[in-house]
Amino acid sequence: MDMYKKGDCLTIIIEDIDTEGQGIGKADGYTLFVKDALVGDKAKVKIMKAKKNYAFARLEEIIEPSAHRIEPKCEHHRRCGGCQLQCLSYEAQLAFKEKKVRNNLVRIGGFTEEEIDKVMQPIIGMEVPFYYRNKAQYPVGRDKKTGKAVAGFYAQRTHDIIPNTECALGVAENKEILERILAWMEQCKVSAYDETTGAGLVRHVLIRKGFVSGELMVCLVVNGKELPGEDALIDTLKEVPGMKSISISINRENTNVIMGKTIRTIWGSDTIEDTLGGIRFRISPLSFYQVNPVQTEKLYAKAVEFAGLTGKESVWDLYCGIGTISLFMAKNAGKVYGVEIIPEAIEDAKGNAERNGFTNTEFFVGKAEEVLPEFYEKAGKTAELDAGHVEAEFNEAGNASPDSEADMLHPDVIVVDPPRKGCDVQCLDTMLKMQPERIVYVSCDSATLARDLKILCEGGYELKKAVCVDMFGMTVHVECVTLLQRKNT
Ligand SMILES: C[S@@+](CC[C@H](N)C(=O)[O-])C[C@H]1O[C@@H](n2cnc3c(N)ncnc32)[C@H](O)[C@@H]1O
Repeated sequence: MDMYKKGDCLTIIIEDIDTEGQGIGKADGYTLFVKDALVGDKAKVKIMKAKKNYAFARLEEIIEPSAHRIEPKCEHHRRCGGCQLQCLSYEAQLAFKEKKVRNNLVRIGGFTEEEIDKVMQPIIGMEVPFYYRNKAQYPVGRDKKTGKAVAGFYAQRTHDIIPNTECALGVAENKEILERILAWMEQCKVSAYDETTGAGLVRHVLIRKGFVSGELMVCLVVNGKELPGEDALIDTLKEVPGMKSISISINRENTNVIMGKTIRTIWGSDTIEDTLGGIRFRISPLSFYQVNPVQTEKLYAKAVEFAGLTGKESVWDLYCGIGTISLFMAKNAGKVYGVEIIPEAIEDAKGNAERNGFTNTEFFVGKAEEVLPEFYEKAGKTAELDAGHVEAEFNEAGNASPDSEADMLHPDVIVVDPPRKGCDVQCLDTMLKMQPERIVYVSCDSATLARDLKILCEGGYELKKAVCVDMFGMTVHVECVTLLQRKNT
């Protein structure tokens, strides 16, 4: 068989889809990955990059569309890296996500199909899979032709900005805010940042909206300490109904990380507020806060259900952010201990607990893989000798003041909600030593979830329940909640 080469055009049928949403088809046994192609499409494709056994190809023409193909909402969907599945019916998106999670549980987690059938509940989809994001981060640059400032999104796998102030996943206010900022830049001759030279001021615009409160936050990420025309910016932005907080984030590094570490509020409040499950949360520009509040309530309700709380339990909430899951648990538990790496988020968590009248929570700053083992080592070693001494010692370390170190050492429930990379092995190891009755694992990456579940199951736990919650319609991402039960209890 002659090898296919770059530039070759072929007609193929798409038979499968990969985890990133690319269609997969074959020509004479040779595999082609085709972005924007759907299972069931008969399509003409052009090879862009050919390897020995496979190639990446571009969708040139759809000859016969897949039964699941629909009209996309956004004209930019093919160039933008954000929505990989906009041409796929929402029903088929949900099926794709469930299958992706199941595959990872089998392939990486080592579970059998039968085991998964027993524990997996139907995916919880969205009623409206658009306009759901409460947070948007738009890059700002200069249009090469007109020289005018533009905001939009990066074309897939590049840092070329395609102007677009109306993302179909975001809120309607984004457009007005961005247009006001761009007009202010023209009026006050404020430069846009240029990644190639490192010159220019405005890099990104972060917008957040409290869906229940209606409050808006704008944070301009700038390559400098001062903002020329700061008053004019404030004057134009504060006219937007709901505006509550305007700040700048100073980021002078040559980096892909969007936010700088220093935030200066230039108008209004440092934070905005939002309500989830009847609990009010304060959110600052740097805090993690789930982007889809409607689905977040469903996700957290599942986590609470899986935790099986009766009002007495002691619960650790690892990777707790601003304490959202902690407070959902605290409503139904005896005591909740939260751990989070970002100090500001822990300050928010403490404030959120206090303002909502919770007295049964405690929060610790640090890496889960350090705080938990450190606590376990210290408290565990001396617990048998002198429980009072343990308390004093742990207090001296400035990290905790446990009411009952026995409850902390051997909690009823540990909840984890780590970032995509999953839990550190040190953290998993200590969780196993602590032997909670139940572990509730909330995850935004089913590959690392499956990897960690395998370790926990080998350490004496059994997978009892699992459910996917779609928090990210139109994209390939999906959230999962799983329940592990300690064996022989
Ligand atoms: C997926 S978020 C979950 C936050 C929270 N549970 C929620 O639902 O809003 C993960 C959180 O883990 C924090 N984090 C990242 N690495 C960490 C680590 N090694 N130890 C503790 N927290 C960490 C992040 O700052 C972030 O707040």
